[in-house]
Amino acid sequence: MLYQNARIENAKETQDIRVENGCFSEIAASLVPREGEEVCDLGGRLVLPPFIEPHIHLDATLTAGDPVWNMSGTLFEGIECWAKRKDKLNAEDVKDRVRRAVRLYASNGVQYLRTHVDVTDPELVALRAILEVREELRNIADIQVVAFPQEGILSFPNGKGLMEEAVRLGVDVIGAIPHFEFTREYSVESLNFACELAAKNGLLMDVHCDETDDDQSRGLETLATRALELGLKDKVTASHTCAMHSYSNAYVLKLMRLLKMSEINFVANPLVNTHLEGRADTYPKRRGVTRVKELTEAGINVAFGNDDLFDPWYPMGCGSMRDTVYLGLHVTQMMGYEDILNSYRFVTTNAAKVLHLGEAYGIKAGNPASFVVMDAKDYYEALSYNAPVTLSVRKGEVIACTEPARKQVLK
Ligand code: FE2
Repeated sequence: MLYQNARIENAKETQDIRVENGCFSEIAASLVPREGEEVCDLGGRLVLPPFIEPHIHLDATLTAGDPVWNMSGTLFEGIECWAKRKDKLNAEDVKDRVRRAVRLYASNGVQYLRTHVDVTDPELVALRAILEVREELRNIADIQVVAFPQEGILSFPNGKGLMEEAVRLGVDVIGAIPHFEFTREYSVESLNFACELAAKNGLLMDVHCDETDDDQSRGLETLATRALELGLKDKVTASHTCAMHSYSNAYVLKLMRLLKMSEINFVANPLVNTHLEGRADTYPKRRGVTRVKELTEAGINVAFGNDDLFDPWYPMGCGSMRDTVYLGLHVTQMMGYEDILNSYRFVTTNAAKVLHLGEAYGIKAGNPASFVVMDAKDYYEALSYNAPVTLSVRKGEVIACTEPARKQVLK
């Protein structure tokens, strides 16, 4: 198969892409079609590596309004709504919603997801269901599963035992939620436990870290220190880190040295962080999004996620990575031309580092032929005009396509 006139990652000149046996075999300025070779002219459209959702909670997805809507929109009312929905949770319910959500993502060019799954459930119903359904969905997406202790590791009965059981069942990533633990001592102990569990089992880590406006929430310094000392380094991700928005600049100045040394990754979730944080403020209201611009400038890897898709904590979403990038750039004031042009990296290459996808991710000869085509000449235009993903190709096969709408002004 020969894809002609592809504008790969905003390149000024177009290139042709040859796909053979599910892999990129040649990428060059002008490739001559072979006899009988199928040809697809992309007409100078933007070609990117597949989109990645680095932070989502698939166990709760597509449950907004069932059985009740979160009327205030707060995190705490979300927890109350979820408690009511949890009664109906069973394996088929979880699998059905995950299938629908992942197909929605696939229609928008997302081929990789990292899902946090609540393991503060003695039966681990959702975890078992998601580990099963991810096998079924492998032809459209790779799904990494995080053991996420929603109600704490030290602050929930048998929290440590449930985390260990999740490892036995086959999770890829160890989570924690230090800011939610009852005490600061529990917070530190939960991180020590989680880091050691990850190190012992050779797993990645992704912590719900300081998802609060409390400027005294200091899980991040403990996480980064353990990542450094245990040699886990870039296998570790700090998600949210909203408290960093509220830290004093003097403290951040000191913290940055440790963050750089630790090599940990960050995931910000601009849509959900702006929606749920700042709720205890009157005016001025804090935005609650971590210091993406400063982290990026310091050479620290940051990705953007959605966090929630139509669930008790976030009532919107369509399985696209576009809106989180769009809002993320506004709220972090990263609106320079180059910032906008290259912002696809938050949900492609930067997110690939979070998921540790390695060299096999990306558009280059020898790699699996996985890519997306957007109806735009570059990502600046794609983001600005909300361009659809016209093709999503996975290991050489087209798994999703969209016919772009054509708008006309008639007068
Ligand atoms: Fe989350």
